[in-house]
Amino acid sequence: MRIKSYIKVLIISVLGFLSSFHCDAKLTSPLIAKQETISLAKKPNTNLSTSRTKISFNKDWKFFLGDKPVAKSPAFNDVKWRKLTLPHDWSIEGKFDEKNPAKPEGGGLPTGIGWYRKEFTAPANFANRIITITFDGVYKNSEVWINGNYLGKRPYGYSSFSYEISRFLKAGKNIIAVKVDNSAQPDSRWYSGSGIYRNVWLISTAKISIANSGTYVSTNNNGQIKVDVQLQNKSLKTQNVNVVNMIYDGEGKLIVKSKSREVTIDTSGKVINGNLTVKNPILWSVENPNQYKLVTQILQNNKVIDTYETMFGIRSFNFNAEKGFSLNGKPMKILGVCLHHDLGALGAAVNTRAIERQLEIMKAMGVNAIRTAHNPPAPEFLDLCDKMGFLVMDEAFDMWAKKKNKNDYHLNFAEWHKRDLEDMVRRDRNHPSIILWSIGNEIREQFDSTGIAITKELVSIVKNLDETRPVISALTETNAEKNFIYQANALDVYGLNYNHKLYKDFPKNYPGVKFLATETTSALETRGFYDTADTIRRWPKNGKTKFTEGNKEWSASAYDNVSAYWGSTHEETWKEAKKYDYVSGLFVWTGFDYLGEPLPYPWPARSSYFGIVDLAGFPKDSYYMYQSEWTDKPVLHILPHWNWQQGKSVEVWAYYNEADEVELYLNGKSLGKKSKQGDDLHIQWNVNFEPGTLKAVSRKNGKDVLTREVKTAGAAAKIELIADRKSIKADGKDLSFVTVRILDAAGNIVPNADNLVNFKIEGNGLIAGVDNGFQASLEPFKANYRKAFHGLCLAIIQSTEKTGEIKLTATSDGLISTSILINSGK
Ligand code: GAL
Repeated sequence: MRIKSYIKVLIISVLGFLSSFHCDAKLTSPLIAKQETISLAKKPNTNLSTSRTKISFNKDWKFFLGDKPVAKSPAFNDVKWRKLTLPHDWSIEGKFDEKNPAKPEGGGLPTGIGWYRKEFTAPANFANRIITITFDGVYKNSEVWINGNYLGKRPYGYSSFSYEISRFLKAGKNIIAVKVDNSAQPDSRWYSGSGIYRNVWLISTAKISIANSGTYVSTNNNGQIKVDVQLQNKSLKTQNVNVVNMIYDGEGKLIVKSKSREVTIDTSGKVINGNLTVKNPILWSVENPNQYKLVTQILQNNKVIDTYETMFGIRSFNFNAEKGFSLNGKPMKILGVCLHHDLGALGAAVNTRAIERQLEIMKAMGVNAIRTAHNPPAPEFLDLCDKMGFLVMDEAFDMWAKKKNKNDYHLNFAEWHKRDLEDMVRRDRNHPSIILWSIGNEIREQFDSTGIAITKELVSIVKNLDETRPVISALTETNAEKNFIYQANALDVYGLNYNHKLYKDFPKNYPGVKFLATETTSALETRGFYDTADTIRRWPKNGKTKFTEGNKEWSASAYDNVSAYWGSTHEETWKEAKKYDYVSGLFVWTGFDYLGEPLPYPWPARSSYFGIVDLAGFPKDSYYMYQSEWTDKPVLHILPHWNWQQGKSVEVWAYYNEADEVELYLNGKSLGKKSKQGDDLHIQWNVNFEPGTLKAVSRKNGKDVLTREVKTAGAAAKIELIADRKSIKADGKDLSFVTVRILDAAGNIVPNADNLVNFKIEGNGLIAGVDNGFQASLEPFKANYRKAFHGLCLAIIQSTEKTGEIKLTATSDGLISTSILINSGK
């Protein structure tokens, strides 16, 4: 049972220690940078000779679903196994079943054990090199063998890890085997996916090289750059090398070059510190996420033996107990959402374009920050946040030694937490986007005294690797005296989940304490489903009574009038958060619906109702409330659809901004002008339904700003396909998200259409997944059909490596079919 302490009364314990622990100087010390060679930013235009190679190791894997211990042996014959390309999530390919051990809370899909094998040829000259394999993430309990030699185990499925394989390699054929064991359930409190679900890399370096994640760049806004470089020497003898650091600007121009520094390096390795200056730096910000690139070279006898690239940004930020958050000295509110890592119909299998699409949708809503709930994300996610201008709260754990689920990470915490946390900070500490390290979400140890020692330990693990960012934990125990994580006196910012009514008195109760609403809201909505209510519903009502409300549609109203009892509607929390400067910001639970945690409904519900956007990526109406508040672009959005029974009294809501008033018309007749009063976030009319056209016009100083119309739709007659991109890359990874709309003869979307749509694909593409955003649909995601839900569904088209046109055709009984062409090119 989840312990919710939201209703507990705040007992005031005025301990200002949270803020005194860290002086502002530390928090403003702007850190920054990110260190992957797969940078998404523009590459510097240089001809640097490099002796390091980092190649994708995703292709030509064999896969077997089930346990096959003999497969670790190089002699094993896997000819019958399925051939696939990573990243791969076998759960998303499975069938929904209430009896699946992950339960509906884990997404209701199969888990189990799977094996992967890959035959490969060792890189050239491997005997004189260091060869490393890096897994960005395997869910979970991975065990790896190379040519029958055991490399190790990694329990936590969200950590990135590497093995050096040089000494086991041989000329010609080599075999790597990976066992993945996600059979012990229930585990994560959401859908985790199963398999090698993130990218795999093969890295080859000279015997003297820069360690993996071996650079650390910290900066200040004057352009002073401090660089720590971890050198390793696997050559078995002490040697002399030279180290040079260079900085390239966003245009790829070399702007700074350090002197070549001679170092003697023995076999224990060495950290080299360097200082550089970027004159008149262009700062990284959410509006202009400018990055620089550090290129570090090791030279021996005037020959470059290693080249390592580290992307970084220059920025400063500050949390202040009175004024809230500021970036580069400019006050701003953190307008964030929490995101789990699944990509809807694609499951957990990482796809850069799918992550980018999610972030684009969030950006257009006005989101400027993401909390990686409740685990370290894929490296590509952080690269995108750096590049697109999002602030990130990077979170390590959802539990420590005390469990939330029987088979979750608490089983590994004692043995692995130090390693997992260190690896997260070391991997991520150069990303300009990251502004907070979270050591945990709603951790059970906040309720007993064991929380004190663990908090101190985790904070010191983080601070040993990065002192430039605050450490936070998302807390729920609001009684300061009884919150042992708070009592540890080690955190920099107070992170409160829910409890929006306590924001008001926070400074009184916690003077001098920096404050962030780390998780809020948990409103429940189904896209396109409208149900009015006189009072706001709390589903479930409390922690004790069984949920019996609900409806036969397995849906929650999109009018923003339903929430979990510990949360609030979107409007309730945002009204509070926006009022007070000292509320540095908020992370709404959640930006997108995610697989698992289908609260409040039982099976067949299998994905969450909390998203501002549904699982398929279609915004629910509340999206526009945030857009009207969080952006300056003119917004006017009306709800609901206009297909009701004659005479029914329908609540019509409008979200708007950049206007003084909105006038509503039904079939040309004005129903009056309205404008928001006080802290209103929407306006509302009660309209007796008659079919026709509902039109809203927003006006400023008497001038029309925007017009929106919604029309009564007739019977479903045809299908419309709209691709988010008609031109994609023929790289076998790129995606086009095709929205399928069911229209009447006049072209109006049919709001309750649930027609079954069949897809046919021709040319060099494939259907990577289908969805409609309905939380209780048990149709498979890997299919060439999908029922529409409230008039919409989605087909995700993926390129192959062959160029050419891809043709998607959608048909449905009784409807006019249609096709769309997508160009796949180099
Ligand atoms: C929070 C928790 C989240 C999610 C949410 C649902 O308490 O941190 O992971 O479970 O509740 O409302």
